[in-house]
Amino acid sequence: MTLLIRGGTVVTHEESYRADVLCGDGRILAIGENLELPAGAEVLEAGDLLVMPGGIDPHTHMELPFMGTVASEDFYSGTAAGLAGGTTSIIDFVIPNPRQSLLEAFQQWRGWAEKSAADYGFHVAVTWWSEQVSEEMGVLVREHGINSFKHFMAYKNAIMAADDTLVASFERCLELGAMPTVHAENGELVDHLQRKLLAQGITGPEAHPLSRPAQVEGEAASRAISIAGTLGVPLYLVHVSTEDAVEQIRLARRNGQPVYGEVLPGHLLLDDGVYQSADWQFAAGHVMSPPFRPAHHQRALWQGLQSGDLQTTATDHCCFCAEQKAAGRNDFSKIPNGTAGIEDRMAVLWDAGVNSGKLSMHEFVAITSTNTAKLFNLYPRKGAVRVGADADLVLWDPQGSRTISASTHHQNVDFNIFEGRQVLGVPRHTISQGRLVCCDGDLRAVRGAGRYLPRPAWPSAYQALQRRAEQQQPLPVAR
Ligand code: URP
Ligand code: ZN
Ligand code: ZN
Repeated sequence: MTLLIRGGTVVTHEESYRADVLCGDGRILAIGENLELPAGAEVLEAGDLLVMPGGIDPHTHMELPFMGTVASEDFYSGTAAGLAGGTTSIIDFVIPNPRQSLLEAFQQWRGWAEKSAADYGFHVAVTWWSEQVSEEMGVLVREHGINSFKHFMAYKNAIMAADDTLVASFERCLELGAMPTVHAENGELVDHLQRKLLAQGITGPEAHPLSRPAQVEGEAASRAISIAGTLGVPLYLVHVSTEDAVEQIRLARRNGQPVYGEVLPGHLLLDDGVYQSADWQFAAGHVMSPPFRPAHHQRALWQGLQSGDLQTTATDHCCFCAEQKAAGRNDFSKIPNGTAGIEDRMAVLWDAGVNSGKLSMHEFVAITSTNTAKLFNLYPRKGAVRVGADADLVLWDPQGSRTISASTHHQNVDFNIFEGRQVLGVPRHTISQGRLVCCDGDLRAVRGAGRYLPRPAWPSAYQALQRRAEQQQPLPVAR
C-alpha cells in the first residue's frame, strides 16, 4: 500500500519544513516538495497539519496481572487507544513472578501481545535474583532483543527488588550492555507507613499519598543513582514525580553520570487534592504509585523537561475499572494501583506544554517520541521522519480541540484522570506502518497488525563505561 501525505509541515525534534511524505511497504520512501503521485497511491491532504513521528510510550502495562486482578486494557484495546491518540509504539513490561523464569514470562507476554494493533517492545523486570536469572538476562539480550531491565524498589512481598538484587542486576546489565531502569520508591518505608496508617484507622484513599511521601521517592532515587554511579552503569528512572528525585537526577547528570528520567502527564498536571474527595470511587480512581503530589512538585517536573534532565514522557498506562478498585474499599493498600492515559498523553502535553509556551514543538516531538527511540535503541527506525524509517506518523492539528472523557475515550476503562479537560491540539490522523489507522476520529485499528520490536543492546559502549568504573574512582555521587 502506498500513501502520499501531501502539503503538510514536517516537524521533527530538530527542524520543521513543508514537504510531502511518501509511504510504502511500511516505510517512508521519499520526503520532498511536490512529490509525484505513484499509480494507485492513496492521497492524504495534510494542509495546515503538522507531520510528526508517531508517539512512543515507553511505559505501559497492558493486561498486567497485578494486586490480585488483571489490568482491564489488553494489548489490542490499549494499542488501539494509543493509535487514536497518536501513539504508534509502546514498550510494555514483562514482569515475572518471583522465582519464575524470565524466559518463560517473556514468552507469556509475547503471546498476549500478539493481538497488538501497534508495534511493541518489552522491558523485562528483575523481581528476584539467582544464577538462572543472570543467565536468562543474557539470553534475553542476545537472542530476544531486550536491552532494558526494570527494578521495582517498591511493592514489598510481591515484586520488590531489594538492594542485593539491584546491585547484582545492575552489574549484569553493565556486562550485557543493557539499561537498568527503576521504579524509585523505598518499599520498606511504604510498607511501614501503610501498616501505621491502617493501625490508626485511616483506611481510605486519602492514606495513599501519606504512605508514599516525596522523600520515599527521593531516597530511592538517590540510592539507585548511587548504586549505578558506583558500578558505572547508566540508569533510567521511570515515572519521576517529585522535586526530590529531579534534584537527584540533576546533580548526578551535572557530575557526568548518565542518568535519565521519565515523567507522566498526570504528575505534571494533577495534585494530591484528588485523594481528599468525598467520592471514594473518584479518589480511588486516582490511586497509582507514585501518587499525585502537592502542586509545587509540578514546577520541578516541567523544569526537568525544559532543561533536559528529564527526557521522556510516558503514561504508565495500567487500567483498573471501578469494580476492580473496589477491592480496596476497606483498606487503601489493596486498591489496585494504576491509571490510564495512552490515548491522552500527546494531546495533554501539547496543550499544557506547547500552548503554554513551556515547550517548543520540537521539544514536544523529542519528549513524546524521539528521545525514547534513542534511549532504548529504536532510533531512527522509530522517532524520526526520514527516508527508510518506519512510516509511523501522526498528523497533528494544532487548532483542533477535544474534551477528554471516559464516556468518549477508546481506553477500556471507566475512568479518566483528565475527565472534562479541554485540549487544544489533537491528532487528526495516525499512520502506522504506512497505513491510515485513525482518520479524523475513525479508528481503523487492526488486531494483530502490531509487530514485536527487538532492541539491540550496547555491549561495546558499556564496556567503555565498565573500564572507566574499574580504572577510576567511582563517579562522585550527588547529594
Ligand atoms: O500505580 C502504578 N504505577 N501501577 C503500575 C505498576 C507500576 O508501579 O508501574
Ligand atoms: Zn512503577
Ligand atoms: Zn508502571
